[in-house]
Amino acid sequence: MDSFVIRGGTPLAGTVAAASAKNAVLPLIAACLLTDEPCVIRNVPLLADVATMLRLLRSMGVRVVQSGRTVTITARGRLDTTAPYDVVRKMRASYYVLGPLLARFGDCRVSLPGGCAIGTRPVDLHLKGIEALGGSVRLEHGYIHARGPRLKGGTMMLEGHKGPSVGATANTMMAAVLARGRTVIDGAACEPEVADLAKFLNAMGAKVSGAGTPAVTIDGVRELHGCRHAPIPDRIEAGTFAAAACATRGRVEVTNCEPGHLGAVIDRLRAAGAAVETGDRCLVVTMKGRPRPVDIGTAPYPGFPTDLQAQFTSLLCLGRGTSTLTENIFESRFLHTLELNRMGASIDVNGNMAIVHGVERLSSAQVMASDLRASAALVIAGLAARGRTEVLRIYHLDRGYERLERKLAPLGARIERASA
Ligand code: EPZ
Repeated sequence: MDSFVIRGGTPLAGTVAAASAKNAVLPLIAACLLTDEPCVIRNVPLLADVATMLRLLRSMGVRVVQSGRTVTITARGRLDTTAPYDVVRKMRASYYVLGPLLARFGDCRVSLPGGCAIGTRPVDLHLKGIEALGGSVRLEHGYIHARGPRLKGGTMMLEGHKGPSVGATANTMMAAVLARGRTVIDGAACEPEVADLAKFLNAMGAKVSGAGTPAVTIDGVRELHGCRHAPIPDRIEAGTFAAAACATRGRVEVTNCEPGHLGAVIDRLRAAGAAVETGDRCLVVTMKGRPRPVDIGTAPYPGFPTDLQAQFTSLLCLGRGTSTLTENIFESRFLHTLELNRMGASIDVNGNMAIVHGVERLSSAQVMASDLRASAALVIAGLAARGRTEVLRIYHLDRGYERLERKLAPLGARIERASA
């Protein structure tokens, strides 16, 4: 199991490019199941989760050709419409095949994802979407068995007690594009990744409007065709670089990113005292001294993303005062605070709020990653702390960041990957 060895204390400086968004690419790959014609996705990041998704499609009999960062997917012929437990337990996003398989083949079995380190994460809204389109779902032996020979458009409210669901919105959109008649999704998630999926579906010949707003309308069509597409940049990776720049009191330019997707993040960076300049597909972040204390509450887009909560916790550990981070999306997304406290941070967690008492500096330590974004937070803390930090179990990180050490080293980070 690989780990990172970091010698911290160096202000990051220079330019780094964000990759395409993991959370856009995964549903795009699943959407290719909606047609038997080739779909070409460019600028695909070389991530463990992307490899898992492509492996899932191959296991169904889909032809997948990868040349560098260009992936050509052709879901022709009779496919095995099952997403097995062995794959879904490793990556929840495998459930993105549910909507497209049901829409195209009228019958599929997708393993229930099971537990997750950051929360219970039920899939009731995904099933609600399928049933609102006239599909039937039955839970059998740990699998969702969905049937719907010819789905029918319908109107539904897809917002849950935690707000809209990115996954359920995407799955229902993909199920509805081949349904008879019109579908209206109220309470839809507005994340840029949802809008990017709609753009892809429309390039395949679908009729999706309103994506990126709480009300999405889909007029079903008889069939879809192939397309070519380049996904949006990864706003979470860009935000991670920005937090690292600030925690090390550096100056970093992030290119190939969409500042417009980072409004709430830029607002909190500025509140913490960072200078943030935005330009065409880039932003420059500079932090001179210790951050000012700020309060952050995670929320569905365009609110502050839960996927940056951990990284900003690391930043605010070094604040000149007490900050609070309220996690409103996932129940148990504070595992990183235990490891940060081992690095000399002073964080109290009370229910869904982390109270971060700023300290002058963090001390290096051996720490353990528990999930994707928690591991990014520990890397940021290691970069800020003086001395040698070792971050264990970075396989979590490789799921969502492509060779992070190779992106940070040119910014002056002293970081190495160690293979046990
Ligand atoms: C997506 O997960 C992202 N994953 C997550 O990023 C991200 O944290 C999350 O959206 C929120 O922004 C991918 O895109 C692959 P949700 P998703 O359905 O779709 C509850 C990362 O680090 N809910 O929007 O699974 C749910 O429990 C990952 O890259 C239901 O109650 O999230 C949560 O509290 C982690 N019933 C809230 O809604 C449902 O049927 C939002 O979840 C579905 C969700």
